[in-house]
Amino acid sequence: MQIFNSVKEMQDWCKKHKKQGRSMGLVPTMGYLHEGHISLVKAARQDCDIVVVSIFVNPIQFGQGEDYGSYPRELERDSALLLKENTDAVFAPSVQDMYPAGYDTFAEVFGDITGKMCGASRPGHFKGVTTVVSKLFHICQPDRAYFGQKDAQQLLIIKKMVRDLNFPLEIVRMPIVRESDGLAMSSRNVYLNEEERQQALVLSQALKMAEKNIRDGEREIEKIRQQIKDMIEARPLARIDYIEIASGQDLSALEEIQGGVLIALAVKFGKTRLIDNLLVEV
Ligand code: PAJ
Repeated sequence: MQIFNSVKEMQDWCKKHKKQGRSMGLVPTMGYLHEGHISLVKAARQDCDIVVVSIFVNPIQFGQGEDYGSYPRELERDSALLLKENTDAVFAPSVQDMYPAGYDTFAEVFGDITGKMCGASRPGHFKGVTTVVSKLFHICQPDRAYFGQKDAQQLLIIKKMVRDLNFPLEIVRMPIVRESDGLAMSSRNVYLNEEERQQALVLSQALKMAEKNIRDGEREIEKIRQQIKDMIEARPLARIDYIEIASGQDLSALEEIQGGVLIALAVKFGKTRLIDNLLVEV
């Protein structure tokens, strides 16, 4: 397994392999890898000749006062995990190499899809995500790139950007990997103390409850939203950022529960903001 810290060296290496006609899978991450990330690497390994995993804590997708400085970084541990998965190359560039002095170019998706949910709570976040993902796509030129349903809005936005800008690659969506008690795996779970972690289980529980109520025939969006809200608010440490129920295709508003519905939550426990979601087909 090769580890590249330089954009130029990564780009040259990828070009060389592409020229030899090898298919390439890219898994973009910010590191501090867990089984959720590894599930994407395993899928890429199955599908592609060459697997590249990027590890880059992207400063421009963090807002002021967010956790850019304290985001967990453990490149050695991550590299060992990726070696076990037969990864071909790890791309871990420096901030200076990705955004040198005078850097001024951004890729941004506009409209409803970025304006609500995390786009509303974290202004500029998705512009930072789509910019870094565009750069990674240009540097590595993958045939497939793997993203998790855990970040449902991110996935839809990246798919839209790929469609709108004709990136010649396929976006592969992978399901959410959870801890055995239901908590969606996240690099940010390490921030939670014991009590917060216990109370955070309410997220997956509330989503399951909503799914059951929909399966039992409930179709009124406001009722479902209120049920979720009541359940989460019963946990004293929880502070709701949003509860969104929208089209799973493009996040557009729905009149009632119908078709592919995304139920998405963002809730703070102490200083830690967690997200979770569920897609229900009705
Ligand atoms: P990061 O949070 O490190 O996530 C990297 C990828 O792993 C994303 O596609 C995310 O959806 C996926 N992932 C995270 N937790 C998961 C889980 N429990 N189950 C399945 N997949 C999971 O998302 C980012 O980094 C960044 O925004 C990035 C796309 C790398 C751009 O900087």
